[in-house]
Amino acid sequence: MAGKVKPLPGTADLWEPEVQEWLFLENKAREVLHCYGYGEVRTPILEKTDLFVRGLGDETEVVQKEMYTFEDRGGRSITLRPEGTAGIMRAIANVGLSQGEEKRVFSIGPMFRGERPAAGRRRQFHQIGVEAVGRCTPVMDAESIVMLLDYLAAVDITDTRLLLNTRGTAEDRKEVAPALEKYFRGHIETMCSDCQRRLEGNVWRILDCKNEECQPIIQNAPAIPELLGSDSKKFFEEVCRFLDRLGVSYELEPRLVRGLDYYEQTVFEVIHEGENLGAQNAVAGGGRYRISLPGSEKHISGVGFALGMERLMLARAPELVGTEPAGMGKIDIFVGGKGENARVENLKLARELRENRYRVLVESENRSLKAQFRTADKVGATVVLLQAESELAKNVVACRNMDTAEQSECPREKIVDWVKDNLDGDL
Ligand code: HAM
Repeated sequence: MAGKVKPLPGTADLWEPEVQEWLFLENKAREVLHCYGYGEVRTPILEKTDLFVRGLGDETEVVQKEMYTFEDRGGRSITLRPEGTAGIMRAIANVGLSQGEEKRVFSIGPMFRGERPAAGRRRQFHQIGVEAVGRCTPVMDAESIVMLLDYLAAVDITDTRLLLNTRGTAEDRKEVAPALEKYFRGHIETMCSDCQRRLEGNVWRILDCKNEECQPIIQNAPAIPELLGSDSKKFFEEVCRFLDRLGVSYELEPRLVRGLDYYEQTVFEVIHEGENLGAQNAVAGGGRYRISLPGSEKHISGVGFALGMERLMLARAPELVGTEPAGMGKIDIFVGGKGENARVENLKLARELRENRYRVLVESENRSLKAQFRTADKVGATVVLLQAESELAKNVVACRNMDTAEQSECPREKIVDWVKDNLDGDL
């Protein structure tokens, strides 16, 4: 066998049973989101680089340092999507949104960011992303948050905290920036070199700095909601009021700005308290946004969030993360026997059992019965069915329940009933 070729750092191969858990998380999302009127969309993983530079903001960490960008053969700058909102907004703008129309969509798939790999932080990671455009109301924001919490409850993720803040509108931000600048200028000497650059480029980004040494200074920065105009304050108060009346508990986090520059008004994150996530404890994040698309003066506004699949896995089923490659699905029944006729009849029998939703493996090599039983045991089959020339002549199947070691013969036409009697409790 060739030497080991590992996946790239920050990427991973997923095997069953971990994949089964991913499917559970994805399908539960489909179930919950469909009930809120959201439909699934799949947009390309590759997009023009401009879409993200314009959409996410060129001062953001993601655009500055983390995008996988390359020139394609035609000399165009292409980027592997680092997040899903910009692509979905491009797709919605493409089909158009008439006055007063609403669109509610979700998408599940891989994203790419060149971050330092750690538990819960990958370079290829996967999101369930949810977006609603066309209605700009506090109720929409509250509903989006409630939907996120409903999903987490549906997949039994408890032990979470909801952090909530507002960034106001672009107009508000012009007013708030001088207050932030004044405050940070007084401390900038002791802050990291990125923050020193951000002070000149986009002071808001300082609030999202993850560097340890900058945290005490950021924690004492002016609280954003207090600096906003009255319309933004009112919008946020309404969001909070709806959440209160729906019985949702949250923590106001007046310096939460989130990592992408398209957010305005409400922003939120859900933090998981369990020990498996470590520093990467945000299982979901989102908010209200206003995205600029390349080549257009128009903006698209919406509200939404994304959940990180890897982090959901660590919160829900850490014991399954990185499980040993199984290489095969679970098997219920091994069908074996010797001889050419038996192999044909075994394939027929296996199809019949599979029609009844059993997971069946058929002997394909005509090996000794001993070797066949060894395989049945190895793949964890509960039942072994054998058809060799002698069984075919009598029109019966030799049956063995591997759990009880009971052996019997069953008429061929009754075999599905026999299997049901012996297996259904195990499925
Ligand atoms: P985000 O906060 O960048 O927001 O990502 C959302 C979630 O994706 C995070 O809370 C985390 O669970 C997961 N995530 C992010 N980066 C990584 C990584 N490197 N490895 C593993 N998981 C990661 C967005 O992406 C926005 N587009 C969300 C949104 C949708 N806002 C409005 N609509």
